[in-house]
Formats: sequence, structure tokens, C-alpha cells
Amino acid sequence: MDGRELVRAVAEIGTARGRRAWRAALRHRRTDAEGLPPRGPERARVPGLLEGTEPRPGGGVLRFARSELTVRVVVGGAVFWGWDGAAAEPSYAVLGGGPEPDPRAVLEPDTGGGWRVVSERVTVAVSRHGAVEVRTPGGAVLRRELPPRWWDPVEGAAPGGSRWLQRAEVPADARFFGLGGRARGPRLRDGEYRLWNTDPKGGFGPGTDPLYITMPVQVVVADAGTHLAFYDNTWDGRVVLREGEEGAGSGADRPGSSELRLEGGPPRCWVLPGTPARVAQGWAGLTGSPAVPPEWALGYQHARWGFGGEAEVRRVVAGYAERGLALSAVHLDIDHYDGHRVFTVDREAFPDLPGLAGELGGAGVRLVSIVDPAVKAGDAVHASGLEVGPHGAFVRDGKGREVRGEVWPGECAYPDFTDPAVREWWGGLYGERLAQGFSGFWHDMNEPVSFAPWGDATLPRSARHVLEGAGGDHREGHNVYALGMARAGWEGLVRLRPGERPFLFSRSGWAGMQRYGGTWSGDVESSWEGLRASLALVLGLGLCGVPYSGPDVGGFGGSPSPELYLRWLELAAYLPLFRTHSAIWAGRREPWEFGPEVAEGAARVLAERERLRPYFVTLSHLARRTGAPYVRPVWWGAPEDRRLRDCEDAFLLGDALLVAPVLECGADRRAVRLPRGRWYDTATGAAHEGPGQVLLDAPLGRAPVLARAGSVLPVRRGDGSVGLEAWAPARGRTGGGVVVRDPGPGFEAGEVERYTVRWAAEAVVVEDEGGAVVSGVEVRGV
Ligand code: NOJ
Repeated sequence: MDGRELVRAVAEIGTARGRRAWRAALRHRRTDAEGLPPRGPERARVPGLLEGTEPRPGGGVLRFARSELTVRVVVGGAVFWGWDGAAAEPSYAVLGGGPEPDPRAVLEPDTGGGWRVVSERVTVAVSRHGAVEVRTPGGAVLRRELPPRWWDPVEGAAPGGSRWLQRAEVPADARFFGLGGRARGPRLRDGEYRLWNTDPKGGFGPGTDPLYITMPVQVVVADAGTHLAFYDNTWDGRVVLREGEEGAGSGADRPGSSELRLEGGPPRCWVLPGTPARVAQGWAGLTGSPAVPPEWALGYQHARWGFGGEAEVRRVVAGYAERGLALSAVHLDIDHYDGHRVFTVDREAFPDLPGLAGELGGAGVRLVSIVDPAVKAGDAVHASGLEVGPHGAFVRDGKGREVRGEVWPGECAYPDFTDPAVREWWGGLYGERLAQGFSGFWHDMNEPVSFAPWGDATLPRSARHVLEGAGGDHREGHNVYALGMARAGWEGLVRLRPGERPFLFSRSGWAGMQRYGGTWSGDVESSWEGLRASLALVLGLGLCGVPYSGPDVGGFGGSPSPELYLRWLELAAYLPLFRTHSAIWAGRREPWEFGPEVAEGAARVLAERERLRPYFVTLSHLARRTGAPYVRPVWWGAPEDRRLRDCEDAFLLGDALLVAPVLECGADRRAVRLPRGRWYDTATGAAHEGPGQVLLDAPLGRAPVLARAGSVLPVRRGDGSVGLEAWAPARGRTGGGVVVRDPGPGFEAGEVERYTVRWAAEAVVVEDEGGAVVSGVEVRGV
């Protein structure tokens, strides 16, 4: 316990909730003392020497003195390796064991007593000591995994297998990204990153790690190429990253390194080499396509903890309407529950929620409900959960007693979302929410949280989970708790309302969560650092396959200055989830609460988001089809450009736009690094040639946004219809873009319309796939 934690822990004794949290934490400690026997003596092990091989489809099995390694190249060029007999299945992330083995990949002897698997897209070389190297077809090394090291118990077997360590090397010039949502990103600098989904207890800034979503997913970008590495293991672990150093031509490069330590679980990994776009596509193929949010979830949304009642909701909604500000949804937090109990309504504050939902719906505003996983012990939901299966729906300890924690409603039980029967029961409970008129769902506190005045604010590590029938403890189940909850919610909603795509986003999650929706930043602090961290999270999560996310505009817990609030709004208007939210104790977030200058700027920002909403719709469908996140690092199309790799304060929104938010107090201009090609400042129309850096005006109320020459994107016109905007290609060049229109609320894919743009004499024309000139296009940059 550090000093700050100690002060907090002591202070908590002063409140009833604090005292209950103390009791819960002490109880959990006792549970673990009884349920987690101390680790006995262990013996270290390495694979030893290669003794034999056996070809299998896509690769083969390589037998070492003290372990065996499976290597498989699959269709599409991804590589799977697993030690100690680890197979690709079962997996919480990878669907159906992954793609088919590549039938053309062959296992053959390599120099130096090693073997290699050669395929069209990738070569995997295994040394006789068990180092695994993933190389491009040209022979460049993307990643070298050194032989793993295990710590086996001297007596008996460890539940979940032995602890293990896997060290990998990457090229000296490589940059690391990913590992889930990291406030310290997007570029992951040297340091330790824990793999344990964590509520940071209060607002977080760039120094806080880990946060709510951790994933053993690394995206590595180097001159030799880009790859994604996924250690498919849900156990508690840590990664130490170290960027490499180049020897400036002396040949004495020091490679970058990743050192992964896991407390158990299968030593296995997927490596996906390719361009960033290919990697994203491969990842979506492996772990599932991102859910497409309903169209309305791509508009601006207002949340607040502490609306207090229906009257305040009406007042806020009317405030937007009176000022002509677009508002898509209002989110109700736990204060609308009865006694903070999930799946209930405080009838005094919200006497007629269905009525309110209907009234707001008539004005185009949806209601979104928070859903917390912890169930108040003894209430009706708890009673119904006790009827599930032979042992009830809730997480138990090793002695079969329900594990109780402390959350908003008081003493709570925790549904075990790793149990299919529990997921089914839980999914059915959303019927109550639908009957109340809610259109979308916001999963919170699902790391899961049990308040603790010190230490880990979650369930005891020895708590038992069903884990799809395999059985195991919380060290293995913790990181996929929220993933299971998202699955339960998603599948329940699809059953209850088969004609509509659910809108669901979740604070915690794991690899594959994109199948069920998105996420948001959580309790980001109301500071300029918090603003910067917001962007880091969205970019990092996008690279880990979760394209729909966004921050609490203004930060969660404080009172942002008018300038900070407006800059935050300017950034978030270009992020998929565009939502303001704040704590019950925090300042207001309505755009008109910060004075006339902010109100005016905010109105412009919200109007621009509305204008771009059809573009967001297109990006959401492209994300489903290709895995590409809407928000991409600027190196996306040119990972070989090292200056772009190090640019962390701007991003690409789809192919067409480059957004350079203002992240510094007092700034009214900023430097913007441009990828190759011509870029237009959308505010002035001025053309800039990349690669290079330009200094652009960024007065309060307007973040620099550049459009790529030759791009075509859909925009909403003043009359509400969707039209095309095209940016002139450079002379002698052509361009184009794709559009997917909203196919409605169901699961239809939407048709992809392809457009090309070119110069015809002195005019710029846009043509559809049939070659017909499209009329009414707003051409810019001429
Ligand atoms: C924590 C969430 O991160 C926050 O958004 C929410 O307002 C509070 N829980 C209360 O439900």
C-alpha cells in the first residue's frame, strides 16, 4: 500500500460504504488465503534440443527434449505457434480455431539444425533450441521469439499449467502499439504493462496503467514490415517492452524486446504479418468483425451521472433543441436505478420511463441505459439468478460459497459470465430495459469491480469460474469477465429484438470484444493530459480491433475550463463515440454552460459532426468488412515513414481526413505532419504537399482537419439528404472513395458504392462504377 492508498483507505473508514468495502476486501483476502495455496518449490525448464519433427497441414509439430511446438501457417498468412501441446482452441478470442491451414505451406530442414515452414506470405524458422522467427518472404525478420522458459511445480501440476516467460525481439527501429487501451500510448514506450483489467479507482491520466481493457495484443511497426502478435492467454500477466536502438551503420543494433510473463495458461501465439490494412483484416478474420452500431449511435450523445429525474432530462434535451444542436441520445447512469440496483427504476425520479422514452424518441433522441454486472444480494434479480443451473448464476469460492463484493447498491453477487447458462439468463434480463424504452446499453464496472480501500478492487483471485465447462479460477477468468458480459448482452438483445442491431459499449473487455460493440474511455481526468490520453486510448484500441470508442468529453470527474471543454469537443467530434459525460460531483457539460464563445464554437463542432455522420456510417460498415478502425494512426498507409510512426497527436479518420486536434492549453496554431501526397486544409482550402510538416491555424473552436487530394466522402447536406464531397486530385492524378449508406436498423450489410474522381479538362468530375458522371457533388480544392 503506498502513502496515497493508505490515506484513502483510512479515510474510507469514515463512511458506511467505506466500512463495507473494508469488510469485503478483508473477506476477499481470507478467501484467497484459504483458496490459493502458496506456490511450492518450482523447477525451471526450457525446451531443450530439437529431437524430431512431424509435418502437419500448414506446418508441423517439432519435438524438443522437454516440450513440443506446433507451428501452423493458415490461409491468409497468419502464423500460429503453441508450446507444450497448446492448440488454437479453446479460445475466448479466436473464432473456430482460426482459418484453415495453408495447404501450400511446407515444413523443411533449415540450416544449423533447425527447421522452417515456408509459405507464400511468410516463413517461420525454428532453431534447434526452439527460437521461432517470423520472416517476410524476402527474408526480413519481423519477430524472433526466443525459447520459452517455464516454472513447473516440483510436486503435482499447477492449476492452469506452469508459469512461463516468453521473450521476443523485434527490429531495432520498431515501435510498439496496442496492449488494449493504454493511457500511456499510442506509442508504447519502455516500461512494464500489466495484463489485468483494472478500474484505476478515480480519474486517470497518462501515467495510470493498467486500465479497464488490457489485451496481450501487440502491433509492431518497423521498416521490415508491420505485424500483430497475440498471445492468446487470458491469465494475469505482465509485459515489459523495450524499444531497440540502431547502431548508426556500425551494425551494432540492439533489437527491441518484449518480455511476457504469465501466471499460467497455454503458451501460444498468433502472428499476423502484412501491411496495417492487411493485419487489421486478418485480425478481424481471426477474432470477428466489429459490430456495426446503429446509425444514431454515430451522432452526438449526452450522458450524466446525476440527472436526478425526468425533469432534468427534459430540460437538457430542450436546451439542445432550443439552440438547434443535434442530439442523438441521452444516457442514464446508476442514479436512475432504484437503490443503484441493476434492472430497476427509481419510480419517484422516473415515474414513467417508457413515456419519457417515447416522447424523446419522437424528437429523435434515444435513451441509453447503464448496466452494471454486480447484483444486490437478496434482491429480485439475485433471486432469479439463484435459479440458474444446479448452483445458481453467481461466482463462488473454492468452498462453494457465493463471493460477495461491495459496489454501488451495497453487498453484491457477481454473475459468472463464463457460464453459457448464466449468459443466457442475463441476456433475457435486457427485456426489462427494452420495456422501459431503452435503445442502447452501456456496460460499466465490469472489470469486475468490488470496492477496496487498498489493493486490487476486484474479486478474489481464487474465486471459481465455469470457463465454458473447463473450470478455473479468477486469475484466468478475470480478463474475460466483461467479454462474457458483452456477449450475454448482445446475444440476449438479438434474441429479444431480432430485427435490430444492438447498441452496446463496455468499459472493460478483451480481444474479440468488438463482436459485441465498443467501449469508452472510462473515468479520464478533466485535464489536458486527460485529453491526450483520450486519443491514445482510441488509437490503441482501434489497432487491437476495437474501432468504436471515445472519451467522456470534458473528462469525468472535474470542471474543465471553457477552453479545455471546447478542445475536447473538437477532438471527440472526429471519434466514433461522441459523448459528453461526467461524474455526479463534477461540473456541467452542456455546451451552453461555458459562455457564448464556447456555445458558438460547440454549435459549429456539433454541426460538422452531423455533416460528417454519413461518413461515419460508411466507416462503421468498412470496419465490419475490413477490420480497419475508423480512427487510424497517421502511419497507417505509410508505416515505413519513421516520422509518421512517432506522430502521436494526430490521426486519420478513414482514408479521406487527417485530424490534428489541439491538445495544448493556449495554443492557436499547431504543427501537423503530413503523409505523402497533397492535403487540403478543409477550413481554408489551401493545399499542402506531403510528406512534410506544416504549421496550421487552430483558433479555439476549430481543430485543423485536412482532406486527402482525390478523396470522395459522403456528407449530410442542409436538407438532410446525403451527398458527395470530393477533393480535387493533383493534376494528372485520379482518386476515389467508397460509400456505404445506412441500410436501416437491421443486420443488412449495405451496398458498397465506389466512386472515382478525375480531372476532365478544367473540371473535376466524379463517376460512379458504371462510369456515369455523378451530379450535385460538392467539389473542393479547385
Ligand atoms: C464508473 C463509470 O466509469 C462512470 O462513467 C459512471 O458514471 C460511474 N461508474 C457511475 O455509474
